Amino acid sequence: MERWWAWQLALVALATVYLSPSHGKMAEFTSDTLINNVVAGPDLRRGQGGRLYVGAVNALYQLNQNLEVESRTETGPKRDNRQCTPPVTDACEEAVDTDNHNKLLLVHAARDVLVVCGSVFRGICSLRNLSNVEQLLYFSDTKGEKSYVASAEESVSVVGVMSYFTTREKANFTVFLVGKGYGSHDSTKLISTRILQDYGDWVVFDSIIEASAVQANPFVLRYLHDFRFAFKDGGFVYFLFSRTLGVQDTKNFTFVSRMCEDDQGYYSYTELQLNCSAANKYNKAQAAYVATPGEVLAQSMTSSGQYGRVSASDKVLFVTFTSDEDPSTSAMCMFPLRSINSRLVEIIGACYSHHGIISEKAAVYSPYSSKEELCSEKPRDMAHRYRCGAEFLPSPLASKAEFALTVEPSLVRKAHMTAVAVAEVEGHAVAFLGTATGEVTQLPVAGKSVFML
Ligand SMILES: *[C@@H]1O[C@H](CO)[C@@H](O)[C@H](O)[C@H]1NC(C)=O
Ligand SMILES: *[C@@H]1O[C@H](CO)[C@@H](O)[C@H](O)[C@H]1NC(C)=O
Ligand SMILES: *[C@@H]1O[C@H](CO)[C@@H](O)[C@H](O)[C@H]1NC(C)=O
Ligand SMILES: *[C@@H]1O[C@H](CO)[C@@H](O)[C@H](O)[C@H]1NC(C)=O
Repeated sequence: MERWWAWQLALVALATVYLSPSHGKMAEFTSDTLINNVVAGPDLRRGQGGRLYVGAVNALYQLNQNLEVESRTETGPKRDNRQCTPPVTDACEEAVDTDNHNKLLLVHAARDVLVVCGSVFRGICSLRNLSNVEQLLYFSDTKGEKSYVASAEESVSVVGVMSYFTTREKANFTVFLVGKGYGSHDSTKLISTRILQDYGDWVVFDSIIEASAVQANPFVLRYLHDFRFAFKDGGFVYFLFSRTLGVQDTKNFTFVSRMCEDDQGYYSYTELQLNCSAANKYNKAQAAYVATPGEVLAQSMTSSGQYGRVSASDKVLFVTFTSDEDPSTSAMCMFPLRSINSRLVEIIGACYSHHGIISEKAAVYSPYSSKEELCSEKPRDMAHRYRCGAEFLPSPLASKAEFALTVEPSLVRKAHMTAVAVAEVEGHAVAFLGTATGEVTQLPVAGKSVFML
């Protein structure tokens, strides 16, 4: 239910930001079924007016800039059962008409393709025509486990981002990276890289990187990852998620992880804990958005002293958090990408040159390895020289809680904020915040904290 409001909001926000209503009235679109995902088409992102794609339960919509339906297709219900291995035939006696929730929508603009992954058939994806989503370009349910991308479970959230992959022979492919938690019938890969064409032994949607580090079974189950957002910036791919700290723990903590886009072994994958408030009261990330703050917010952030120097064109990660300890409130915290990156460099650097110690305290641990030896003395410039990792470097690192990037909330509300989008309107940053009860609020963002009822 929460996700529906989340995307209802995204739609409102995107429409407001990009579609500048030309007829003086607010455009509106209503789906017959729950909306799971909304993405903007390529032209829209360039601010030229364009399309929105809406993935809903059993339906997929292509909307024009007035939010009118240009093309739509039914994606379900389908005869399916989680117990059965696709293709689901008469041999699957338990098969019943099953709702198809949209789990992932990604725009591959260069090829005019929309990647669509649903919850039926173990999360197999399809490719559709970006200019006409009714047209199915590719779907196969006979390729086996390697083509299961998303999750069959409603509660498991899936995030993804387009990227590229270069082989040793210098062939360059479009791929997408996927982050997802673990559902009982899903693959245990936390992060995977999926190809969009057949090549050599690979088939469409194959997971082409076998990096055991962030894909190993026992660890995935232990941490209960809940992925919320994925994005790319400056040659890096980032995932935002919450997880526990171990098998005995049920408390959720929020992390942002980062790896180099052209790191083919995920060697550079590193997790940084994010605390929203000094006591980390707002511990669980719900939604996030990356935007530039604009002149006014940048100045206000800089003068608050919490964020270092922030300029109008710096990217900032805006995250809404809920509180496991106090479900009646939620908060929004801001993390400049510059701060995230420099804290990550500190942590990685400490591992290579100071046995993982900063100010006499252990700063890092290795959540996905049982190996004792973690950080070892290496030449001083190691972290810099092997910025994107290498085979001989330790398994993925995570910051210890004491080295979490911590900021005070810029907004606290007596509501469950489950969605966020931020836009710059005439130099001012405006946040569109959605709550679990379906309310959408538009608020200016400031560098100092604002508390509301
Ligand atoms: C996608 O749809 C557009 C518009 O209908 C059409 O011109 C184009 O040929 C289609 N692409 C493919 C690959 O069929
Ligand atoms: C591969 O393609 C992407 C864009 O599609 C580009 O950014 C990247 O530099 C290319 N890599 C190589 C090695 O050509
Ligand atoms: C952690 O989050 C999960 C949902 O992802 C929730 O079910 C669980 O109750 C949370 N843990 C605590 C201690 O509140
Ligand atoms: C982050 O929060 C945790 C508690 O959840 C706390 O132990 C840790 O010290 C905090 N880190 C910082 C840098 O404040």
